[in-house]
Amino acid sequence: MDRKMNQHGFDVNFLEQHPTPFYYYDIDVLRSTLAEINRQTAGLPYKVHYAVKANGNPRILSEIINYGLGADLVSGGELQAAKTAGFKPSEMNFSGVGKTDWEIRLGLEHGIGCFNVESVPELDVINQLAGEMGTSANIALRVNPDIDAHTHKYITTGTADNKFGINIEILEQVIDQALDMDNINLRGLHFHIGSQITMMQPYVMLCETINGLLEHYSQRGIHFELINVGGGLGIDYTDPEHHPIPNFKQYFDTFKQHLHLEPGQELHFELGRAIVGQCGTLMTRVTFVKESRDKKFVILDAGMNDLIRPALYEAHHEIQNLTSAEDRTDTYNIVGPVCESSDVFAHGCTLPVSRRGDLIAIRSAGAYGESMASTYNMRPLAPSIFGHDGPSTAIHS
Ligand code: LLP
Repeated sequence: MDRKMNQHGFDVNFLEQHPTPFYYYDIDVLRSTLAEINRQTAGLPYKVHYAVKANGNPRILSEIINYGLGADLVSGGELQAAKTAGFKPSEMNFSGVGKTDWEIRLGLEHGIGCFNVESVPELDVINQLAGEMGTSANIALRVNPDIDAHTHKYITTGTADNKFGINIEILEQVIDQALDMDNINLRGLHFHIGSQITMMQPYVMLCETINGLLEHYSQRGIHFELINVGGGLGIDYTDPEHHPIPNFKQYFDTFKQHLHLEPGQELHFELGRAIVGQCGTLMTRVTFVKESRDKKFVILDAGMNDLIRPALYEAHHEIQNLTSAEDRTDTYNIVGPVCESSDVFAHGCTLPVSRRGDLIAIRSAGAYGESMASTYNMRPLAPSIFGHDGPSTAIHS
């Protein structure tokens, strides 16, 4: 067996032709992931919107459109990218606590499907701008359900003490205000409890909260066209090879079992990481192997500017040496070249004995990798390369 082609499933001969660092996207993995989402939601009143913030690469967006998903946006820039890629405005949601006037106007001009409104001041401004433009705004109110998804503190969003959403205690009053407004079309309620959620329990709690709200409002004769439960489904960062596709069945089944939708009501999702996380890998080479008194450092040509998740969230990404022919292993701190002590991808990582020039894969980097990259230290942005990129056989759901 050709060692270079084998154990981690990469076509090393192909990858070695490109200068590093670069993002490598396996289009087969992306397509299989999207096909699985469509399989699990077929025949249900479910609509998945892709959270563009996870990865706005145009090639990735065009693939996602082929599978019939909508787009979840958090900025005017994302709206423009989604529009250019071909997403239908009626299938766009616009979230975010700080939408500026030009962003709201852009959404109104395009007649987007839904603004997910996060506060009363925002509701007032949307109503006013829509009036000025002689149109009306489709909205959902983002409710802060006060559920702790037990994920990293920087990516938990559904507890009462963070900036997101409208506190559940004042929801009723805000709904009444929205229903009274001339230029607001209240379509539904929106929730998002956090990201990288791997246990279903927080989603069960979310369903129970929503059931309570729906029951309460239906008694008042208020019915919502749609419920949006946000995103957050996690991926397996420790074993991407064996779990390239998240357990969508378990995820959608949780909502099927626990959420009591009303007849005619649609359920919307905003998944980002679960869709693109596993198809992306940051490919980089060893620049130097350096020994200090009691540590060995592998210094890569990719840094925290290319993939900031380990530095920012202490996130774990599997690291693999794709070209070492060594059977012996060693333990390394894997670092980047950026002038910051936090430019570390892994501490105490066991790899085959590694040398200058070896090709290294930093796995599960498809979500919040390229999209959070910067040019810090005036380093150029890493380009993207696509593999298994044949013609699509996608069928619109
Ligand atoms: N909807 C809303 C309102 C959101 O705020 C987010 C993510 C999503 C959907 C998509 O969540 P996902 O399905 O991707 O978990 N940079 C962090 C993640 C930040 C997530 C922010 N909001 C990371 O690298 O882990």
